[in-house]
Amino acid sequence: MVPKLICDDEMADVHAPATSDKDSLKVTIKLSVEKINAINRICASYDNDPEELISVLHETQNTLGYLPAEVQEIIAHNLKISAAHVYGVVTFYSYFTMVPKGDHPISVCMGTACYVRGAEKILDELKKELNINIGETTPDQRFSISCLRCVGACGLAPVMMVGEKVYGRVSPNDVRKILEEYREDNCEECKPTQQL
Ligand code: FES
Repeated sequence: MVPKLICDDEMADVHAPATSDKDSLKVTIKLSVEKINAINRICASYDNDPEELISVLHETQNTLGYLPAEVQEIIAHNLKISAAHVYGVVTFYSYFTMVPKGDHPISVCMGTACYVRGAEKILDELKKELNINIGETTPDQRFSISCLRCVGACGLAPVMMVGEKVYGRVSPNDVRKILEEYREDNCEECKPTQQL
């Protein structure tokens, strides 16, 4: 039995498959029609090929910002694979997140070159400055912190990224100054983000 999508004007319910005919367990989750359409388009652009799961997840996260359970359900439905399989992949790779990232997602490279040149101290300083842990988002939704493997800029180690911008040879003393660029009053890039 495959999940059934039911749409009304505003929202769609996704009914997860019952575990058996006798067992009528149903999980009902809500997503906007726009989000469902966006996910469907991404899956279709990869021919709903289950071999393309990671690419689909990447693009979906880039579009929606994160991969909550209901999004995973739609992807599983389209690619005709189990939701458990999708969940397994999402939770295996640290790049993927099930919680929304901040407007300015911060990533610290924890590859070998960056690690030996003090990436952990950068991370500690970020956690202290923002008062959040790895994988968390600040209450104002402005910043989130995550770790990455080598981003291919080892010559600049230690490296951190804010969004797509790369900062090299970062010292703990630089962290506050970098964050200042993205604080509300100073941030030129800060325009309202259009959410689907
Ligand atoms: S180890 Fe950090 S950029 Fe390569």
